[in-house]
Amino acid sequence: MTARIPATLIPGDGIGPEIVDATLAVLDALDSPFDWERQIAGLGGIQAAGDPLPQATLDSIRRTRLALKGPLETPSGGGYRSSNVRLREEFKLYANLRPTRTVIPGGRYDNIDLVIVRENLEGLYIGHEHYIPIDDDPHAVAMATGVNTRQGSRRLLEFAFEHAIATGRKKVTIVHKANIMKALTGIFLETGQQLWEEKYKGRIALDSVIIDACAMKLVLNPWQFDVLVTTNLFGDILSDLAAGLVGGLGMAPGANIGADAAIFEAVHGSAPDIAGKGIANPTALMLAAAMMLDHVKLQDKATRLRQAIADTLNVDKVRTGDLGGSANCAQFTKALVSRISDS
Ligand code: NAI
Repeated sequence: MTARIPATLIPGDGIGPEIVDATLAVLDALDSPFDWERQIAGLGGIQAAGDPLPQATLDSIRRTRLALKGPLETPSGGGYRSSNVRLREEFKLYANLRPTRTVIPGGRYDNIDLVIVRENLEGLYIGHEHYIPIDDDPHAVAMATGVNTRQGSRRLLEFAFEHAIATGRKKVTIVHKANIMKALTGIFLETGQQLWEEKYKGRIALDSVIIDACAMKLVLNPWQFDVLVTTNLFGDILSDLAAGLVGGLGMAPGANIGADAAIFEAVHGSAPDIAGKGIANPTALMLAAAMMLDHVKLQDKATRLRQAIADTLNVDKVRTGDLGGSANCAQFTKALVSRISDS
């Protein structure tokens, strides 16, 4: 019998509870050994406890060091600071791993298989921002400070090289804007090149590309890339672009991995436009659950889950609306559970 594994579960906001329930159903069908501690965060945290990241949630993740998380709503402009960013900081989740793979063949792009490794704690994303008032305009000037450190860049780049080698990848591409942001993203490029010379030359190929050219190349010929490693904001944008190559946000999983914990989630947000309608695609979160199974060394269950997802989508042709199908979240999940039970 497999040992039980304590894990934190955050259903999240908007479509979160719906896709989390669907994911729990498939994990149950796989007989996954997680003992869930259900916690709140985001808008749900504000509503239930007046706090977007309650202490009980932090304590739970500190205990389990492992979490599956639905999307958390963050207000744009004003309001509270992103609970996602705070979780990443709290548990030093410095690596954001976002694989992009074609699951449904025959789309605009076929056979996509690339990985984006995004720095998760530094860069322009840290939210050190302020306004400078002039005359009667309190928002006359807006300023943001980006911070990248040698040490932060190095541990992320090391993670990317190690992950690439361990998973049989051939090439790592550093994505930067060192021609313009010479210090902020230059330090990342320089650290990556030095690290490669020191430890990885001869074990894996390295090249580099400027972010704007990378966006164009990903659209023209995504197959030229293997592992892309980049700073926080560029990784945020490129991973949504990459999700678009394989059917959209409903298909893109992510893992936040760090020194103190690992948190698995979908790349997409809480999708307020479709929340409560029962039509969300739960696949991205289910693929994140497969990454979580890999992480706890239950690769056989992860493989069964990925195969069952592919069979439900491609053989049974049960698909949600975002993929051009007519199934709702519950119908897709039911078909998937019966695939798993047959596997
Ligand atoms: P979003 O990713 O929630 O939605 C973008 C578009 O994709 C919408 O049209 C939505 O309906 C669609 N979509 C997303 N997931 C889908 C799914 N599973 N099935 C079918 N369609 C799906 O991005 P948006 O609207 O910019 O953000 C909404 C909220 O989510 C914001 O408060 C944002 O801060 C938060 N967010 C949270 C994230 C997280 O918790 N990791 C990540 C990204 C955004």
